[in-house]
Amino acid sequence: MIPEICLTILLIGLVINAVKRPRNFPPGPRGLPLVGYLPFLSSWDPNYPHKAMKKMSEVYGPVTGIYLGLTPVISVCSHEAVKEALLNEDLNGRPHSSITLARNFGEQLGIMFVMGQFWQEHRRFTMRHLRDLGFGKTSIEDQMMGELKDLITDMENSSQSDAQRVVDLKGIFQVSVLNILWAMIAGKRFRRNDPKFQELLTANEQFFRAGDPIRGSIPVPSLVLNHSRIVREFIGLKRELIEPIQKFIQNTIDDHQLTNRSADEATDFIDFYLNEMRKQKAENPFTTFTNNQLIATVTDLFGAGAESTSGSIGFAIIHLIRNQEVQLKMQMELDQVCGEYLPTLNHRSSLPYTEAVLMEAQRCSSIAPYAVPHYAVKDTQLQGYTIPKGSVIMLNLDAVLLDDGYWKKPEVFLPERHLNEDGTKVIKSDHFYPFGLGKRMCLGDSLAKNTYFLFTAALIKQFRFEPAPNEPLPSLDPTNGFTLGYRGFKAVVVPRS
Ligand code: HEM
Repeated sequence: MIPEICLTILLIGLVINAVKRPRNFPPGPRGLPLVGYLPFLSSWDPNYPHKAMKKMSEVYGPVTGIYLGLTPVISVCSHEAVKEALLNEDLNGRPHSSITLARNFGEQLGIMFVMGQFWQEHRRFTMRHLRDLGFGKTSIEDQMMGELKDLITDMENSSQSDAQRVVDLKGIFQVSVLNILWAMIAGKRFRRNDPKFQELLTANEQFFRAGDPIRGSIPVPSLVLNHSRIVREFIGLKRELIEPIQKFIQNTIDDHQLTNRSADEATDFIDFYLNEMRKQKAENPFTTFTNNQLIATVTDLFGAGAESTSGSIGFAIIHLIRNQEVQLKMQMELDQVCGEYLPTLNHRSSLPYTEAVLMEAQRCSSIAPYAVPHYAVKDTQLQGYTIPKGSVIMLNLDAVLLDDGYWKKPEVFLPERHLNEDGTKVIKSDHFYPFGLGKRMCLGDSLAKNTYFLFTAALIKQFRFEPAPNEPLPSLDPTNGFTLGYRGFKAVVVPRS
């Protein structure tokens, strides 16, 4: 009898817990005991969680509160609310998710998934040294152009080797884009067809595609995680994909330890970090500058650097294949301004139409629709609602970029919306922030913007891209994941004379 009574009390407790909400919690649908709203989320949109959350906000309002498992999750879907949340420092934390823990030796490490003083110290150190190494500066433009020329030669060869000039554009931009970053991090570049590097890029891509930011932010006890493959698959944790990347980074660090360059001789980020680590260890045995933290930081940069910019270039090319008249207009501007040369960063301000095309491609196809999940470090307010400490905050940048209350016909690809009336100036919109805002804003935005511009503008100047015969038009439906990627596609790629 006593066990039955205990079980009944437990069940009643769980049901009360499932329907009870903190005072002034944002409105949203209720869920089931223990699992919360988790089983029902996909009923709003079976494919994309950010679209499911957007649809939910149409019913419950721009700030919607649900429980996933025992975790309060706040979905934020309007410009006013997203901006307020991004600028609220109480919402600047990151969830302690099982994935990030498993990815970082069971600790909160790196830059992207840490918070507080630890985050500030390591973000500042990383930014300072990457900037010194040329991050986002014109000083690395020559190196960018070198990578770009290699890519162009590769694409010319592929085009010439096919009678119909069809080129497979799946993953083709990744090596070149990552090489620019890798030179700063590790002082090396990879051959385009290096099989080892291709393997790492594939592992990285599969890791990014394995889950989504919502499921990935749910905390799961490590006992459950270690023993349940179903749970690991549900949240999208694939340790076997991250291990080869960590091993590769460790080998790169070992090579740097052998050369042991001093701070004065340092030529890349790993050199600078190892010097700081030695210095701090001598002064403070509890320093946070450790070997594992270096691996985690480089893993963050490698992951973000490999997937994001190349994804944006891929989506831009797809939009231009689907909108041939825009491609032609962009080529005319590029020819007029750059003559026979490839576009450089100096040309940028004289290429408003090109800039508008790039902005429009990012607006229509955001690769980080949810930013990176934020976390409430203390009880706070958002749009008049109380957000309890420990909530995971999903900031729907995609909903802002496609907001039909602000953008006219947001689903139409229309570069002109970013230009003044006579098309001579780019209009900066306060609804356009694909890199986020505030202190958690993308750390790589300046490098990403330069790379995205140089590569997309040069490829469009150099080639005509057309739909491949007997192939479906390249799809704009992204592949799901922690970020969104473009689907592989083939296109006719014809060098322009
Ligand atoms: C088109 C390319 C890119 C886009 C659209 C993009 C977008 C974003 C967004 C939306 C965030 C989250 C901001 C937030 O949580 O509030 C972010 C964070 C971050 N990005 Fe990027 N990113 C891009 C390229 C890069 C590159 C090339 C790097 C690496 C060098 C990078 C490194 C990071 C890091 C380390 C963070 C975490 C910052 C932190 O938590 O303090 N990103 N990015």
